[in-house]
Order: sequence, then C-alpha cells, then structure tokens
Amino acid sequence: MSDNRPIGIFDSGLGGLTVTKEIIRCLPNEDIVYFGDTSRVPYGTKGAQTIKRYAKEDERFLLSKDVKLIVAACGTVSSVAPDTALDLPVPFIEVISHSVDAAIKATKNKKIGVLATAATIKSGAHKNKILKKMPDALVTEVSGSLLVSLVEEGFTDKNDPLTLEAVKKYVKPFIENKVDTVILGCTHFPIIAEAISKVLGENVTLINMGVATALAVKETLCRLDLLNNSGGNHRFYVSDKGAEFKKTASILLGEEIDENNIETAVIDTI
Ligand code: DGL
Repeated sequence: MSDNRPIGIFDSGLGGLTVTKEIIRCLPNEDIVYFGDTSRVPYGTKGAQTIKRYAKEDERFLLSKDVKLIVAACGTVSSVAPDTALDLPVPFIEVISHSVDAAIKATKNKKIGVLATAATIKSGAHKNKILKKMPDALVTEVSGSLLVSLVEEGFTDKNDPLTLEAVKKYVKPFIENKVDTVILGCTHFPIIAEAISKVLGENVTLINMGVATALAVKETLCRLDLLNNSGGNHRFYVSDKGAEFKKTASILLGEEIDENNIETAVIDTI
C-alpha cells in the first residue's frame, strides 16, 4: 500500500527549509507542501501563548492541503507548542525528541550543549527530555538569537569574522563546561555548522535536527505504510514574500526555489 498525499512541513519562516532539505534527501519520492510563516517570523522571541496560536493556525493551513503527516520544522514550535498537535488527525513529528536521542547516542562524557532561540531555551524542552533519558547528564543551554539574523543576512561563510565573533561569544559556556556534543536546536544553525565547529573544535559533535528528524519521518511513513513511491513535487507557501525572500530561501534550502512553485498564502487566524 502507499499514500500519495504530501508531507506537510511548517516553520516560523524559511528556516525550516534546512529540515526540508534533509527530508527531501532522505525521501526523494515524497511530495511536500511547505508553509513558512514569513509575515510573523521570528517566533523565537515571542511568548508561549502567541507561539501556540500561530502553530495551531499553521497546522490548520497544512491540513487544508490534505497532508498525510505534519512536521513542525521549527525548534521554537517543537519545544513551546508540541501540545497543539495532540488533536491532529494525522501523525505529527517535531524536531526536539529525535535530536535529543541523537545527542544521547553521541555523547561520551554526558556533557551536552543546546544552542537555540530564547523561547526554546526558556521552555527547557531539550534539557527535560535529556535528563529523563540520561539523569546524570550535564546540560548547558545557550540562547543564540543573533545567529538567526546573521544567517538570514547571509553571513554564513565559516571564515566570516562577524559570525565567528558571535559564535565565540555564544559557545563560551560550552567550552567552559567541556561539552562534547551540541544540539543545533534552531533551524538556522546547520547553515553555520562549519563556523561553530571551527570555534568548538572537531572533537565536539554537532547534532543537525534536520537529519535526525528526516530519519524519524521515514521510519514513521514506513511503519504506517504511508510511503509514496511516485512523487517528488515540492510546493512552497509563505505568508509574505519579503524583499530578501529568494536569497534567504536559497541559503536555507541549499538550492534555488522555482518561482512557479511558490505561492503567498493567507492564513485563517483563530
Ligand atoms: N525557526 C526558528 C527555530 O527553529 C528560528 C526563527 C524564529 O525565531 O522564528 O527556532
């Protein structure tokens, strides 16, 4: 049996394209509908109630596209608003749990760092999940919201002095606490993984939540017999096409998006 309906993926903006990239790599025959809430990004600096309402609206938009599974490709939504998915009629995958599992598998000294947005860090989602599975772990959490802006502005080269300076400041607690594994808990950070690695050194393992999540999506589709063997179409919706839209989207997806596949969507508010 197979299911040819698309996978729905959403994010506060375009950052979720880093997760989408990994899902496409892992599941090339799946159709995908992506929604980026570009008119309301960032979510990472907002309060929990607002993030939950936005997440619910984003999920409803994807359901209107008849998706078979929803991925919250946003660290902030996944940590602050996972309960908005409780009454969804389709399977839901968030990006925290699988990154935590990958970090627990990778760490040798049980010292794990989390780099994410302010809202994600405030939620304590990673830390709680890590400590549940590894009670004697030392978890160091750092909020690195400025790094989101640097990526969006295109300061992504591993030798960029501005980015390196910001990374050095943010990862200092990781170095002080001798972490050997860092979860990149925000969509944008895989783009500057090389710069982060350059500062932390190659012995520190960086966990890309897109990779961990893509494997979970594949496993879920296989288990529920929902795989599509003949798709591969990708449709992108955004709530606003800002001036830098194309540039930012191609940085995050790692390839140009065909203009014909992008639509502006009006979201029904709750
Ligand atoms: N997508 C968000 C995340 O992964 C980063 C951008 C934002 O703050 O909305 O947390």
